[in-house]
Amino acid sequence: ALGLKGRDFIALIDYTPEELRYLIQQAIELKRMQKAGEVYQPLRGKTLGMIFEKNSTRTRVSFEVGMYQLGGQALFLSGQDLQLGRGETIMDTAQTLSRYLNGIMIRTYAHKTVIELARGATIPVINGLTDLMHPCQALADYQTIYEKKGKLEGLKLAYIGDGNNMSHSLMMGGSKLGVHVAVATPEGYEPDEEIVKMSQEQAEQTGGRITLHRDPKEAAADADIIYTDVWASMGFEQEQEEREKAFRDYQVNDDLVRYAKQDYLFMHCLPAHRGEEVAESVIDGPNSIIFDQAENRLHAQKAIMAAIM
Ligand code: CP
Ligand code: NVA
Repeated sequence: ALGLKGRDFIALIDYTPEELRYLIQQAIELKRMQKAGEVYQPLRGKTLGMIFEKNSTRTRVSFEVGMYQLGGQALFLSGQDLQLGRGETIMDTAQTLSRYLNGIMIRTYAHKTVIELARGATIPVINGLTDLMHPCQALADYQTIYEKKGKLEGLKLAYIGDGNNMSHSLMMGGSKLGVHVAVATPEGYEPDEEIVKMSQEQAEQTGGRITLHRDPKEAAADADIIYTDVWASMGFEQEQEEREKAFRDYQVNDDLVRYAKQDYLFMHCLPAHRGEEVAESVIDGPNSIIFDQAENRLHAQKAIMAAIM
């Protein structure tokens, strides 16, 4: 299908708009099949290794269950317990694991670790989150938006808060899919300049837009989607206090969502801190679709694995 077999899934910018739309359609179809009780096992006999150097609830469970549903098996590999934790190189790890497995998913800190793993591996590598990107989440999110709104092109997604991995992957995906991604951050917490530039160039090809804002109200104005994420991502916990100060005016609350469209959707990749980046009334209110997003991790990742493995 579209010749995706053998590809890595590291950054949404590496995929064409057609390929991303294909994956979203596949995710929707696999979701339908699972709900109808139809068995689909194209990965029978195949194995995915899942390297985790950070915590996870959704990513671990959805990859493991997804692999099982596709007829294969997933192995949980803690970075601590692997020899990687005692200094074995990524290159040697990549080559060794390639002799046993059919695919590797990795969640780690430095993005270059994933790039290096993919370079050393002879099997597909999936990025399960780095400090720089979270492509599986953003793909599932665009699937979710498509299901709720019936389209992606021309929608406005306001991302409020930290210019982190989520903001980057939402910009990269939105730029491919014709979405206006408006990012509002405090000074010093802007998204990566190179990713912004890349996404802006890509958006010109698709009718999308990438805009940066200081004022969250400006970003939220007329938005179809309001998205936020934690103020201190994994690996930045020691900055919690200074970040709480810097982000004080960036909470998604009833005052802010008033600027969005009446039928706006609230989104968050989870885990969330109620009362910090988002008010309880918003995240637990009628416009929130956080658990649809979480569910779609399963379907979107099944689509990715079925396509590339
Ligand atoms: N959204 C997300 O990736 O969740 P986990 O950290 O629980 O995997
Ligand atoms: N930005 C968050 C996302 C968690 C899924 C983090 O990196 O911790």
